Amino acid sequence: MSVEALKFGSFTLKSGRVSPYFFNAGLLSTGPILATLSTAYATTISNALSSKAVPTFDVLFGPAYKGIPFASTAALALYTQHNISVGFAYDRKEAKDHGEGGKMVGVSVEGKKVVILDDVMTSGKAVRAAIETVKQHGGEVVGVVQALDREEVGQDGVSSTVQELEDLIGEGRVFSILKMRDLMVWLEKKGMKGELESMQQYWDKYGLK
Ligand SMILES: *[C@@H]1O[C@H](CO)[C@@H](O)[C@H](O)[C@H]1NC(C)=O
Repeated sequence: MSVEALKFGSFTLKSGRVSPYFFNAGLLSTGPILATLSTAYATTISNALSSKAVPTFDVLFGPAYKGIPFASTAALALYTQHNISVGFAYDRKEAKDHGEGGKMVGVSVEGKKVVILDDVMTSGKAVRAAIETVKQHGGEVVGVVQALDREEVGQDGVSSTVQELEDLIGEGRVFSILKMRDLMVWLEKKGMKGELESMQQYWDKYGLK
């Protein structure tokens, strides 16, 4: 909230839903915040490895653009804080036709186990595209870690985005640092009653049942 990456109000999302909160990870762009965020990503990944939910992997993939700083700083934190050594990679939004060419930058994902980092997903379209990109380049996606899970049902009103992704990459392999419910607990602690009420109404309408 201090950098307005999290805002409360009334926001129309790409899905058409009118949300009482909005998360803009592009504003998580100061040294202290990146330090906190990369630590949180690294801890989430390290816990997922310890519990064997995710197998030992080789590459963190951060889809362009917002995933790039997150994957690079998370790879750094995994090494400095957990002694876990992985490479990182990202894609270009537009393929380059000169120099080294191609769409991918960073370590090769070919024949590698890959974890994708994301900020927040609603429909999961961007993550599905990232899974496809990694596959096309010969990698296997063994996990997805997002900063915030909005915990919403899909357009059909039943399925969850997380469940749909787990159908693709394996049960129990999608993780998040924070969930919508964590935000609600935090609002309650802060005594932000109006915001909490709007969140509750949104949750009743679109939250996972
Ligand atoms: C860090 O990991 C390497 C490779 O797995 C291991 O050889 C080394 O002992 C570890 N260092 C510490 C401080 O745990």
